[in-house]
Amino acid sequence: MSVTIPECDVDLFDEDVLRDPYPTYAEMRRMGPVVRVPKYDFLAVTRYAEVRAVLLDAEHFVSGRGVGFNAGFNEVRSSSIIASDQPRHGMLRSVLEPRLGPRALRDVEKTIRARAAELVAEVARRDSFDAVREFAEIFPVQVVGELIGLPEDHRSQLLLWANGAFNAFGPLNERTEAGMEAIGEQFEYIRTVATREQLTPGSMGAAVYEAADAGLIPEEYCLHLLSAYLTAGMDTTVNALSAMIQLLGSHPDAWRELKAAPTLAPSAINEVFRMEAPAQLFSRVAAERVELAGVQIDEGQRVAVVYASANRDERQYPDPDRFDVRRNPAGHLTFGMGPHACAGQALARIELRAVLDALLGQLDTISVGEPVRKINNVLRGLSSLPATFTAEVGAGR
Ligand code: HEM
Repeated sequence: MSVTIPECDVDLFDEDVLRDPYPTYAEMRRMGPVVRVPKYDFLAVTRYAEVRAVLLDAEHFVSGRGVGFNAGFNEVRSSSIIASDQPRHGMLRSVLEPRLGPRALRDVEKTIRARAAELVAEVARRDSFDAVREFAEIFPVQVVGELIGLPEDHRSQLLLWANGAFNAFGPLNERTEAGMEAIGEQFEYIRTVATREQLTPGSMGAAVYEAADAGLIPEEYCLHLLSAYLTAGMDTTVNALSAMIQLLGSHPDAWRELKAAPTLAPSAINEVFRMEAPAQLFSRVAAERVELAGVQIDEGQRVAVVYASANRDERQYPDPDRFDVRRNPAGHLTFGMGPHACAGQALARIELRAVLDALLGQLDTISVGEPVRKINNVLRGLSSLPATFTAEVGAGR
């Protein structure tokens, strides 16, 4: 017997919904394990168990038919790692993984920690500053830009292109169209600036071209792997850092708890990731007719996987809207799960940890003003956050 799939008439990509999507996600979770979104002709999974199940079942829920919500984008990204199935996915992943694993990042961590400490000390000397534009946006572009081996010029454009590249995942709207143009500009930058000749020897970017030279991947994939670094590696981390400052600044009790017990730092970072997933949703397509939680899903049906909703599922996390630095929700789905789980998550964790340790080591208080939200079809982040860091007496000297 086929179960009727409930319908959600809320426009998930409407600006007001994007500003605060959590009530809509809660309603979708309440409606059922699988919900139809008729306006865009896709199904959505929003509960933790089903999001996890879809991500782990790459045989039935494939990425190779695109993970965005419009055909033009899925076509442009058809050679990307994120839109690959086996065996191509394994081939592309094997180029990135050795450079992004914990062992490769051990040396990098020292530099990242030093950078984080300098940046925190620098902004703490000011009366107030913008925690997005003058802090969160500086750090990952500097760190990831150097790791990829990019020349210094044009780095300010990188975030604009990455933000656009994420907008382009959405169904057709103004943001998506502008995003497609940004992808074109980013590709042009890679073809003319992030080239074999101009990337720093020994860098992650140079390793992509080396893989092609060694015959491990066809040359055409170099552009797409570099684009994956430039898109996935920057804006996501900027948003996570902004969320961390905002959550800590607006929860003074949590800040004091962390100051008293800095060993809670890994737990607090997982909680930041759980509360504000920078990548809110992508999608899969059913490769054949398949049953999920008692619901029949037809072959060819697109299914949105809403990581951000899974992270707020009351079935998985009691009192899910509460920021609790002791919760340690290590199983959150902010980095996805399964074969496409974020290849750069160790790096993102190192960046957040380095910043949090610098904040805890140097500051007495963090206070934040009214945040301005950045509206993006699939990312959640801020474009501005007034902040004041008060240094601890004697810190950073
Ligand atoms: C807080 C920061 C980050 C978040 C929230 C994030 C989130 C994600 C998510 C949700 C996916 C899974 C996509 C899927 O299920 O289809 C993913 C994949 C990916 N991420 Fe990240 N990411 C972050 C940082 C990074 C960094 C720093 C890098 C690299 C420098 C990176 C590189 C990648 C790559 C290459 C993939 C594709 C993996 C594949 O398809 O096998 N990410 N990321």
